[in-house]
Amino acid sequence: MAKGNSGPLLKPESETSGSKRPQTKKSKAREIRKANAPKASIPIKADAESSCSTVLLELQQRCLHVFRDALHPSGEDAVLLQEVKGHLYNRDFATAFGKEEYLRVYASRWSPSRALGYVQIFDDIEEFVLPDEGHDSVGSPDKQPVEIACLGGGAGAELVALGGWLSQVREREADLKLSVKLVDIASWGPTMAALQRRVEMTPEPAKYASTVAKEESQPLLPEGALDMQFQKQDVLEWSEAELAALVGKAKLVTLMFTLNELYSTDRPKTQRLLSFLGAAMPSDALLLVVDSPGSYSTVSINEAEKKYPMQWLLDYTLLGPPQKPDAEPSEKSATWEKVMSEDSKWFRLQGLQYPIELENMRYQIHLYKRLG
Ligand SMILES: C[S@@+](CC[C@H](N)C(=O)[O-])C[C@H]1O[C@@H](n2cnc3c(N)ncnc32)[C@H](O)[C@@H]1O
Repeated sequence: MAKGNSGPLLKPESETSGSKRPQTKKSKAREIRKANAPKASIPIKADAESSCSTVLLELQQRCLHVFRDALHPSGEDAVLLQEVKGHLYNRDFATAFGKEEYLRVYASRWSPSRALGYVQIFDDIEEFVLPDEGHDSVGSPDKQPVEIACLGGGAGAELVALGGWLSQVREREADLKLSVKLVDIASWGPTMAALQRRVEMTPEPAKYASTVAKEESQPLLPEGALDMQFQKQDVLEWSEAELAALVGKAKLVTLMFTLNELYSTDRPKTQRLLSFLGAAMPSDALLLVVDSPGSYSTVSINEAEKKYPMQWLLDYTLLGPPQKPDAEPSEKSATWEKVMSEDSKWFRLQGLQYPIELENMRYQIHLYKRLG
Protein backbone atom coordinates (compact mmCIF):
# COMPACT_ATOMS: atom_id res chain seq x y z
CA MET A 1 0.00 0.00 0.00
CA ALA A 2 1.20 3.50 -0.79
CA LYS A 3 2.79 5.46 2.00
CA GLY A 4 0.42 8.13 3.20
CA ASN A 5 -2.60 6.06 2.46
CA SER A 6 -4.05 5.12 5.79
CA GLY A 7 -5.63 2.00 4.33
CA PRO A 8 -8.99 0.61 5.27
CA LEU A 9 -10.30 2.10 8.47
CA LEU A 10 -12.13 -0.65 10.26
CA LYS A 11 -14.78 0.39 12.68
CA PRO A 12 -14.82 -1.28 16.07
CA GLU A 13 -16.95 -4.36 16.37
CA SER A 14 -19.86 -2.53 18.02
CA GLU A 15 -20.37 -0.63 14.77
CA THR A 16 -19.55 -3.36 12.31
CA SER A 17 -21.17 -6.39 13.88
CA GLY A 18 -23.86 -7.64 11.60
CA SER A 19 -24.65 -10.31 9.10
CA LYS A 20 -21.66 -9.54 6.86
CA ARG A 21 -18.96 -10.47 9.37
CA PRO A 22 -18.15 -14.14 9.78
CA GLN A 23 -18.66 -15.37 13.34
CA THR A 24 -15.38 -16.13 15.05
CA LYS A 25 -14.75 -18.12 18.24
CA LYS A 26 -14.33 -14.78 19.97
CA SER A 27 -17.54 -13.21 18.71
CA LYS A 28 -19.47 -16.33 19.72
CA ALA A 29 -17.94 -16.21 23.21
CA ARG A 30 -18.73 -12.50 23.42
CA GLU A 31 -22.36 -13.11 22.48
CA ILE A 32 -22.68 -15.77 25.15
CA ARG A 33 -21.07 -13.50 27.74
CA LYS A 34 -23.41 -10.66 26.85
CA ALA A 35 -26.49 -12.87 26.94
CA ASN A 36 -25.57 -14.29 30.32
CA ALA A 37 -24.59 -11.04 31.92
CA PRO A 38 -27.24 -8.38 31.58
CA LYS A 39 -25.90 -6.55 34.63
CA ALA A 40 -22.55 -6.03 32.97
CA SER A 41 -24.00 -3.76 30.31
CA ILE A 42 -23.15 -0.14 30.82
CA PRO A 43 -25.78 2.28 29.48
CA ILE A 44 -25.27 3.15 25.82
CA LYS A 45 -25.55 6.79 24.85
CA ALA A 46 -26.82 7.00 21.29
CA ASP A 47 -24.03 9.26 20.05
CA ALA A 48 -20.49 9.00 18.74
CA GLU A 49 -19.13 8.84 22.28
CA SER A 50 -21.15 5.84 23.37
CA SER A 51 -19.71 3.16 25.59
CA CYS A 52 -20.87 -0.41 25.86
CA SER A 53 -19.08 -2.93 28.02
CA THR A 54 -18.74 -6.52 26.88
CA VAL A 55 -16.65 -7.36 29.94
CA LEU A 56 -18.43 -9.11 32.78
CA LEU A 57 -19.06 -7.02 35.85
CA GLU A 58 -17.70 -9.85 37.96
CA LEU A 59 -14.39 -9.74 36.09
CA GLN A 60 -14.24 -5.96 36.48
CA GLN A 61 -14.79 -6.37 40.22
CA ARG A 62 -12.03 -8.97 40.46
CA CYS A 63 -9.63 -6.54 38.76
CA LEU A 64 -10.57 -3.90 41.33
CA HIS A 65 -9.88 -6.41 44.12
CA VAL A 66 -6.34 -6.79 42.78
CA PHE A 67 -5.73 -3.04 43.27
CA ARG A 68 -7.52 -3.00 46.64
CA ASP A 69 -5.53 -5.92 48.05
CA ALA A 70 -2.16 -4.86 46.63
CA LEU A 71 -2.28 -1.12 47.31
CA HIS A 72 -4.75 -0.70 50.22
CA PRO A 73 -6.46 2.52 49.07
CA SER A 74 -8.24 4.42 51.84
CA GLY A 75 -9.74 7.80 52.63
CA GLU A 76 -6.62 8.47 54.70
CA ASP A 77 -4.65 8.91 51.47
CA ALA A 78 -6.53 12.15 50.69
CA VAL A 79 -3.65 14.45 51.68
CA LEU A 80 -1.06 12.45 49.72
CA LEU A 81 -3.41 12.39 46.72
CA GLN A 82 -3.75 16.18 46.83
CA GLU A 83 0.04 16.50 46.83
CA VAL A 84 0.36 14.17 43.82
CA LYS A 85 -2.43 16.04 42.00
CA GLY A 86 -0.60 19.33 42.60
CA HIS A 87 2.63 17.99 41.11
CA LEU A 88 0.79 16.54 38.12
CA TYR A 89 -1.04 19.84 37.59
CA ASN A 90 2.34 21.61 37.51
CA ARG A 91 3.59 18.94 35.07
CA ASP A 92 6.31 18.13 37.59
CA PHE A 93 6.23 14.41 36.79
CA ALA A 94 9.62 13.73 38.38
CA THR A 95 8.22 14.77 41.79
CA ALA A 96 4.76 13.27 41.25
CA PHE A 97 6.33 9.87 40.51
CA GLY A 98 9.39 10.36 42.72
CA LYS A 99 8.29 8.79 46.03
CA GLU A 100 7.18 5.25 46.86
CA GLU A 101 4.11 6.55 48.77
CA TYR A 102 3.12 8.82 45.84
CA LEU A 103 3.36 5.88 43.45
CA ARG A 104 1.13 3.74 45.66
CA VAL A 105 -1.59 6.37 45.99
CA TYR A 106 -1.39 7.33 42.29
CA ALA A 107 -1.79 3.69 41.23
CA SER A 108 -4.58 3.03 43.74
CA ARG A 109 -6.54 6.14 42.67
CA TRP A 110 -6.07 6.51 38.91
CA SER A 111 -5.07 3.08 37.61
CA PRO A 112 -8.13 0.97 38.58
CA SER A 113 -10.66 2.73 36.34
CA ARG A 114 -8.11 2.84 33.53
CA ALA A 115 -7.46 -0.88 34.00
CA LEU A 116 -11.17 -1.65 33.58
CA GLY A 117 -11.31 0.55 30.48
CA TYR A 118 -8.25 -1.25 29.13
CA VAL A 119 -9.79 -4.71 29.66
CA GLN A 120 -12.59 -3.44 27.43
CA ILE A 121 -10.06 -2.08 24.90
CA PHE A 122 -8.12 -5.38 24.79
CA ASP A 123 -11.45 -7.15 24.30
CA ASP A 124 -12.31 -4.71 21.48
CA ILE A 125 -8.99 -5.29 19.65
CA GLU A 126 -8.77 -9.01 20.41
CA GLU A 127 -9.58 -10.06 16.85
CA PHE A 128 -6.39 -8.29 15.70
CA VAL A 129 -4.17 -9.55 18.55
CA LEU A 130 -5.42 -13.13 18.45
CA PRO A 131 -6.83 -13.71 14.99
CA ASP A 132 -8.76 -16.98 14.89
CA GLU A 133 -6.70 -18.43 12.07
CA GLY A 134 -3.25 -19.46 13.30
CA HIS A 135 -4.15 -18.52 16.85
CA ASP A 136 -3.80 -22.17 17.86
CA SER A 137 -0.07 -21.78 17.30
CA VAL A 138 0.36 -19.59 20.37
CA GLY A 139 -0.21 -20.20 24.01
CA SER A 140 -0.07 -24.01 24.20
CA PRO A 141 2.20 -25.36 26.94
CA ASP A 142 4.93 -26.21 24.43
CA LYS A 143 4.39 -23.02 22.43
CA GLN A 144 5.42 -19.48 23.06
CA PRO A 145 3.35 -16.99 25.09
CA VAL A 146 2.02 -13.93 23.28
CA GLU A 147 4.50 -11.09 23.85
CA ILE A 148 3.24 -7.64 24.76
CA ALA A 149 5.34 -4.54 25.51
CA CYS A 150 3.83 -1.53 27.27
CA LEU A 151 5.81 1.72 26.95
CA GLY A 152 5.06 4.12 29.80
CA GLY A 153 3.44 1.02 31.24
CA GLY A 154 4.01 1.76 34.91
CA ALA A 155 1.19 2.43 37.39
CA GLY A 156 -0.42 -0.96 36.91
CA ALA A 157 -3.39 -0.32 34.63
CA GLU A 158 -1.95 -2.27 31.68
CA LEU A 159 -0.73 -5.13 33.89
CA VAL A 160 -4.05 -5.70 35.67
CA ALA A 161 -6.02 -5.14 32.46
CA LEU A 162 -3.95 -7.73 30.60
CA GLY A 163 -4.48 -10.09 33.55
CA GLY A 164 -8.24 -9.51 33.39
CA TRP A 165 -8.39 -9.85 29.62
CA LEU A 166 -6.27 -13.03 29.69
CA SER A 167 -8.49 -14.56 32.34
CA GLN A 168 -11.48 -13.92 30.03
CA VAL A 169 -9.73 -15.33 26.94
CA ARG A 170 -8.58 -18.42 28.86
CA GLU A 171 -12.23 -19.41 29.34
CA ARG A 172 -12.05 -20.64 25.74
CA GLU A 173 -8.26 -20.83 25.14
CA ALA A 174 -7.22 -22.42 28.43
CA ASP A 175 -3.52 -22.62 27.65
CA LEU A 176 -2.99 -19.09 26.36
CA LYS A 177 -0.16 -17.27 28.16
CA LEU A 178 1.15 -13.74 28.03
CA SER A 179 4.65 -12.40 28.45
CA VAL A 180 4.30 -8.74 29.40
CA LYS A 181 7.18 -6.26 29.43
CA LEU A 182 6.44 -2.98 31.13
CA VAL A 183 8.83 -0.08 30.58
CA ASP A 184 8.63 3.21 32.43
CA ILE A 185 10.89 6.09 33.42
CA ALA A 186 9.56 6.05 37.01
CA SER A 187 10.38 3.45 39.67
CA TRP A 188 7.21 1.42 39.39
CA GLY A 189 9.00 -1.92 40.01
CA PRO A 190 7.76 -2.57 43.60
CA THR A 191 4.17 -1.49 42.73
CA MET A 192 4.17 -3.78 39.68
CA ALA A 193 5.51 -6.69 41.75
CA ALA A 194 2.78 -6.17 44.38
CA LEU A 195 0.06 -6.13 41.70
CA GLN A 196 1.52 -9.14 39.89
CA ARG A 197 1.50 -11.15 43.16
CA ARG A 198 -2.13 -10.21 43.76
CA VAL A 199 -3.17 -11.23 40.23
CA GLU A 200 -2.19 -14.78 41.21
CA MET A 201 -3.71 -14.73 44.71
CA THR A 202 -7.21 -15.31 46.03
CA PRO A 203 -8.82 -11.93 46.87
CA GLU A 204 -9.06 -10.94 50.53
CA PRO A 205 -12.50 -12.08 51.71
CA ALA A 206 -15.04 -9.38 52.52
CA LYS A 207 -15.70 -9.00 56.26
CA TYR A 208 -19.08 -10.73 56.16
CA ALA A 209 -18.53 -13.03 53.17
CA SER A 210 -20.25 -16.41 53.42
CA THR A 211 -18.16 -19.56 53.60
CA VAL A 212 -19.36 -20.49 50.08
CA ALA A 213 -18.33 -17.10 48.72
CA LYS A 214 -14.91 -17.51 50.34
CA GLU A 215 -14.52 -20.98 48.82
CA GLU A 216 -15.62 -19.84 45.36
CA SER A 217 -13.23 -16.91 45.37
CA GLN A 218 -10.49 -17.51 42.78
CA PRO A 219 -7.30 -15.72 41.76
CA LEU A 220 -7.60 -13.74 38.53
CA LEU A 221 -4.99 -16.05 36.94
CA PRO A 222 -3.14 -19.22 37.88
CA GLU A 223 0.59 -18.92 38.52
CA GLY A 224 2.65 -18.75 35.33
CA ALA A 225 -0.15 -17.64 33.00
CA LEU A 226 1.15 -14.08 32.85
CA ASP A 227 4.87 -13.46 33.02
CA MET A 228 5.66 -9.83 33.88
CA GLN A 229 8.98 -8.00 33.62
CA PHE A 230 9.37 -4.38 34.61
CA GLN A 231 12.19 -2.24 33.24
CA LYS A 232 12.96 1.29 34.46
CA GLN A 233 13.98 3.14 31.31
CA ASP A 234 13.52 6.46 29.54
CA VAL A 235 12.05 5.25 26.25
CA LEU A 236 13.13 8.45 24.49
CA GLU A 237 16.78 7.67 25.17
CA TRP A 238 16.70 4.15 23.78
CA SER A 239 18.91 3.09 20.90
CA GLU A 240 17.27 1.23 18.03
CA ALA A 241 19.08 -1.97 19.08
CA GLU A 242 17.85 -1.73 22.70
CA LEU A 243 14.30 -1.16 21.53
CA ALA A 244 14.56 -4.04 19.06
CA ALA A 245 15.55 -6.37 21.91
CA LEU A 246 12.31 -5.46 23.70
CA VAL A 247 9.80 -5.39 20.86
CA GLY A 248 11.43 -7.66 18.24
CA LYS A 249 9.01 -10.50 18.98
CA ALA A 250 6.08 -8.47 20.30
CA LYS A 251 2.59 -9.06 18.96
CA LEU A 252 1.38 -5.86 20.58
CA VAL A 253 3.12 -2.68 21.74
CA THR A 254 1.09 -0.16 23.73
CA LEU A 255 1.39 3.56 24.48
CA MET A 256 -1.47 4.19 26.92
CA PHE A 257 -1.88 7.78 28.14
CA THR A 258 1.84 8.20 27.47
CA LEU A 259 2.32 9.40 23.88
CA ASN A 260 1.16 12.94 24.49
CA GLU A 261 3.45 13.14 27.52
CA LEU A 262 6.33 11.99 25.30
CA TYR A 263 5.43 14.53 22.59
CA SER A 264 5.39 17.29 25.23
CA THR A 265 8.79 16.18 26.58
CA ASP A 266 10.60 15.97 23.25
CA ARG A 267 8.78 15.72 19.92
CA PRO A 268 11.77 14.84 17.69
CA LYS A 269 12.82 12.05 20.07
CA THR A 270 9.22 10.80 20.17
CA GLN A 271 9.15 10.69 16.39
CA ARG A 272 12.47 8.84 16.43
CA LEU A 273 11.00 6.34 18.92
CA LEU A 274 8.02 5.77 16.61
CA SER A 275 10.27 5.22 13.63
CA PHE A 276 12.45 2.79 15.65
CA LEU A 277 9.25 0.90 16.48
CA GLY A 278 8.44 0.65 12.78
CA ALA A 279 11.89 -0.79 12.11
CA ALA A 280 11.96 -3.16 15.10
CA MET A 281 8.47 -4.62 15.34
CA PRO A 282 7.71 -7.80 13.38
CA SER A 283 5.24 -7.76 10.52
CA ASP A 284 1.61 -8.07 11.60
CA ALA A 285 2.48 -6.74 15.07
CA LEU A 286 0.19 -4.02 16.41
CA LEU A 287 0.82 -0.61 17.90
CA LEU A 288 -1.96 0.57 20.20
CA VAL A 289 -2.17 4.23 21.19
CA VAL A 290 -4.72 5.38 23.76
CA ASP A 291 -4.76 8.91 25.16
CA SER A 292 -7.00 11.75 26.29
CA PRO A 293 -9.19 13.00 23.45
CA GLY A 294 -8.22 16.35 22.02
CA SER A 295 -4.53 16.22 23.03
CA TYR A 296 -2.51 18.83 21.15
CA SER A 297 1.22 19.38 20.66
CA THR A 298 2.96 22.43 19.29
CA VAL A 299 5.10 21.44 16.35
CA SER A 300 6.93 23.18 13.61
CA ILE A 301 6.45 21.55 10.22
CA ASN A 302 7.99 23.16 7.13
CA GLU A 303 9.14 26.03 9.37
CA ALA A 304 5.60 26.88 10.42
CA GLU A 305 4.93 26.57 14.15
CA LYS A 306 1.44 25.25 14.77
CA LYS A 307 -0.56 23.22 17.26
CA TYR A 308 -1.44 19.81 15.86
CA PRO A 309 -3.72 17.17 17.38
CA MET A 310 -1.72 14.24 18.73
CA GLN A 311 -3.54 11.90 16.38
CA TRP A 312 -2.58 14.00 13.35
CA LEU A 313 1.08 13.93 14.39
CA LEU A 314 0.93 10.21 14.94
CA ASP A 315 -0.59 9.59 11.50
CA TYR A 316 1.95 11.97 9.96
CA THR A 317 4.83 10.02 11.51
CA LEU A 318 3.54 6.51 10.89
CA LEU A 319 1.62 6.89 7.63
CA GLY A 320 3.25 9.95 6.04
CA PRO A 321 1.80 13.36 5.10
CA PRO A 322 -1.91 13.35 4.25
CA GLN A 323 -2.35 12.82 0.50
CA LYS A 324 -4.36 15.09 -1.73
CA PRO A 325 -7.39 13.25 -3.17
CA ASP A 326 -6.04 13.48 -6.77
CA ALA A 327 -2.41 12.58 -5.87
CA GLU A 328 -0.68 9.71 -7.68
CA PRO A 329 -0.19 6.70 -5.41
CA SER A 330 3.35 6.70 -4.00
CA GLU A 331 5.80 3.99 -5.06
CA LYS A 332 7.19 3.79 -1.52
CA SER A 333 6.01 0.80 0.45
CA ALA A 334 4.19 1.64 3.64
CA THR A 335 5.30 0.51 7.09
CA TRP A 336 1.99 0.81 8.91
CA GLU A 337 -1.68 0.39 8.21
CA LYS A 338 -4.27 1.96 10.48
CA VAL A 339 -6.82 -0.68 11.42
CA MET A 340 -8.91 1.06 14.06
CA SER A 341 -9.41 4.65 15.12
CA GLU A 342 -11.85 6.58 17.28
CA ASP A 343 -11.44 10.18 18.42
CA SER A 344 -13.52 9.95 21.55
CA LYS A 345 -15.00 7.09 23.52
CA TRP A 346 -16.26 6.66 27.07
CA PHE A 347 -15.73 3.81 29.43
CA ARG A 348 -18.21 4.14 32.27
CA LEU A 349 -18.12 2.43 35.64
CA GLN A 350 -21.28 1.09 37.14
CA GLY A 351 -22.25 -1.20 40.00
CA LEU A 352 -18.70 -1.75 41.28
CA GLN A 353 -17.20 -1.50 44.73
CA TYR A 354 -13.89 0.09 45.64
CA PRO A 355 -12.72 1.80 48.85
CA ILE A 356 -12.24 5.21 47.23
CA GLU A 357 -13.91 7.18 44.44
CA LEU A 358 -13.18 6.22 40.82
CA GLU A 359 -14.03 8.02 37.60
CA ASN A 360 -15.26 7.13 34.13
CA MET A 361 -12.63 7.25 31.41
CA ARG A 362 -12.81 9.16 28.14
CA TYR A 363 -10.20 8.34 25.54
CA GLN A 364 -9.11 8.34 21.92
CA ILE A 365 -7.86 5.06 20.46
CA HIS A 366 -5.74 4.26 17.40
CA LEU A 367 -4.50 0.85 16.34
CA TYR A 368 -1.83 0.37 13.65
CA LYS A 369 -0.64 -2.84 12.07
CA ARG A 370 2.99 -3.31 11.00
CA LEU A 371 2.99 -4.32 7.34
CA GLY A 372 5.27 -7.07 6.03
C1 LIG B 1 -0.17 9.36 32.50
S1 LIG B 1 0.90 8.05 32.99
C2 LIG B 1 0.09 6.64 32.26
C3 LIG B 1 0.47 5.37 32.93
C4 LIG B 1 -0.19 4.13 32.35
N1 LIG B 1 0.28 3.88 31.01
C5 LIG B 1 -1.69 4.25 32.35
O1 LIG B 1 -2.29 4.24 31.26
O2 LIG B 1 -2.30 4.35 33.40
C6 LIG B 1 2.30 8.27 31.91
C7 LIG B 1 3.38 7.28 32.19
O3 LIG B 1 4.43 7.47 31.24
C8 LIG B 1 5.66 7.41 31.90
N2 LIG B 1 6.66 8.14 31.11
C9 LIG B 1 6.68 9.46 30.82
N3 LIG B 1 7.77 9.76 30.09
C10 LIG B 1 8.45 8.60 29.89
C11 LIG B 1 9.65 8.27 29.21
N4 LIG B 1 10.36 9.19 28.59
N5 LIG B 1 10.05 6.97 29.22
C12 LIG B 1 9.32 6.03 29.85
N6 LIG B 1 8.17 6.29 30.52
C13 LIG B 1 7.73 7.56 30.54
C14 LIG B 1 5.38 8.05 33.25
O4 LIG B 1 6.34 7.72 34.23
C15 LIG B 1 4.00 7.48 33.58
O5 LIG B 1 4.07 6.25 34.25
